[in-house]
Amino acid sequence: MLKLANVSDATCLAQLERAASAAPWTLQQFTDCLAEKNPAYILWENDRAIGFVIYHLIDGQCEIYNIAVHPDFQKNGRGKYLLEQVIDTARARRCQSIFLEVRVSNQAALALYQKLGFNEIGIRRNYYKMSSTAREDAIMMAVDLFYD
Ligand SMILES: CC(C)(COP(=O)(O)OP(=O)(O)OC[C@H]1O[C@@H](n2cnc3c(N)ncnc32)[C@H](O)[C@@H]1OP(=O)(O)O)[C@@H](O)C(=O)NCCC(=O)NCCS
Repeated sequence: MLKLANVSDATCLAQLERAASAAPWTLQQFTDCLAEKNPAYILWENDRAIGFVIYHLIDGQCEIYNIAVHPDFQKNGRGKYLLEQVIDTARARRCQSIFLEVRVSNQAALALYQKLGFNEIGIRRNYYKMSSTAREDAIMMAVDLFYD
């Protein structure tokens, strides 16, 4: 079941993110992002939150801010399903493009995005802080949406 998140779900999203991601957002980042009314969907199965996607949609442009699926439930179509919900929403709102950024080493996310039609449009050097000394480049990706 898919539910729209609000700011009271920040802790839940932060826990999921810590379990799934090599470079997790902090609880404060989730709280701020949800408080700014950025939409987020949480995927629930058997009373357990197992994945989420959080995005921004304004003036015909959409950006995926974050997506994660708990490791126990990965590689079974949930990430694709979550991303498709955002694409459907963006289409319904007549968005022209959807943008996102991903760490260059994040093969699972890169493969997911490519599968859903995203293409590389640029690189942000040293964009992600991975530790006090290490940084990692971001690949910028986009998909254009077309209408009859
Ligand atoms: C990226 C992520 C959300 C994918 O979720 P998922 O539920 O495992 O993905 P899906 O099962 O829907 O996979 C859809 C497609 O993505 C690709 N994919 C997903 N995981 C993959 C992996 N580990 N290796 C290679 N390709 C992968 C495949 O093409 C797959 O299609 P297929 O099953 O037909 O081969 C998940 O790996 C995750 O939570 N990662 C940690 C958080 C993260 O990095 N988020 C991205 C931030 S930019």
